[in-house]
Amino acid sequence: MSTPHVSAAPDHLNPPLQALFRRLLGEIDSPDSSDWDATDSLLDAKVYSDPDIHRLEVERIFRRLPLCLGHADQLPEPGSMLARDLLGLPLLLVRDAQGDIQVLLNVCRHRGARLVAGQDTVCRQTGLTCPYHAWRYGLDGALLGVPMAQGFPTLDPASRGLKRLPSTVRHGLVWAVLDPAQATIDVPGLLGGLDDDLAVLGLGSHRFFRQRVQTRATNWKLVMDAFQEVYHIKRLHARTIAPFFLHAKSAGEAVGPHLRILVGREQLPDATALPPGAWDVRRHATLTHAIFPNSLLIYHPDSTSHLGMFPTAPGEIRFVHTMFTPHAARNDKEQAHWDRTFDMIDGGVFSAEDLFISEQIQQGVASGANDSFVLGRFEQHLRRFHAQVQGMLRG
Ligand code: FES
Ligand SMILES: [Fe+2]
Repeated sequence: MSTPHVSAAPDHLNPPLQALFRRLLGEIDSPDSSDWDATDSLLDAKVYSDPDIHRLEVERIFRRLPLCLGHADQLPEPGSMLARDLLGLPLLLVRDAQGDIQVLLNVCRHRGARLVAGQDTVCRQTGLTCPYHAWRYGLDGALLGVPMAQGFPTLDPASRGLKRLPSTVRHGLVWAVLDPAQATIDVPGLLGGLDDDLAVLGLGSHRFFRQRVQTRATNWKLVMDAFQEVYHIKRLHARTIAPFFLHAKSAGEAVGPHLRILVGREQLPDATALPPGAWDVRRHATLTHAIFPNSLLIYHPDSTSHLGMFPTAPGEIRFVHTMFTPHAARNDKEQAHWDRTFDMIDGGVFSAEDLFISEQIQQGVASGANDSFVLGRFEQHLRRFHAQVQGMLRG
């Protein structure tokens, strides 16, 4: 989040974002906040470590809801594909010959060999051929060829295509339900009131910039927690982004199970003299959407981050950070600027600060020092987030 280099008109704001921005302006001079809950509360520490809770979260939350897997522009042309293992499923994201993105299981339908061996690197292929006996599949997963086909007199090729998960692209983002038994996906239904936010922010025309995937020793909810409060910014981020922000000035609100939150930047007071059309949720403030259960969209001054937390164990996640930009870099200067932005945000802020502290907390949870954690009045969005998780676990 270094000094914006790419100048652009502010994003057009819809009425809910304008109303939230107006509330944020009202926070500038108020010592307390209208936003806070009436009182603090306790959170059972075992939500971060209990294997039964983890199992239920996977079953009742992660396998049921559409999850965002990144930006569609990462797969730029027909034949682009990306293998990625998430939630125990070997996924294959493929742009097919029609230009549609398919989310397939990376598993041969003959005797189950993995089709693409590695993961996390985009490659380009015209189709998929199994390394074991060379069954051949199209980019849409259809079974196209079986060597020595006379050996399979009862085989029905139409029913032996690669398993396909329900998926769609909306707002430029790839969404899928990670359960081969599910038939449909409803992203507008998931997003509810955030659907229009994402539409007006125009992410569909943004371009993929860079992605990093890491395995980190933290519960997924600790990372979601870290992005739903501003209490920590001045301390944890003192060496990186803290100077860009006012101290603890934010306005957030629940949108169904999700959160939209604006955090006041240093430039926020300038906006008091501007008409609403000039209010900028990337420069006067930083907008974040926490999309239930495991996605965060963070709107930097001239780029956007998507963070996805995919649990592999109570105390472990695959953390996928994708950065996209309003357009492809047009020259070396823009490329260098966004390279620096990515390095600072991904390496400096997320990895070395937010994920670092989440891992430290995970170790603290294991120590038994805390049966419970204390959520302050201004940690109200964490309270709601955890209540939402617990509600879904109860079914
Ligand atoms: S397991 Fe793939 S062709 Fe046999
Ligand atoms: Fe943070």
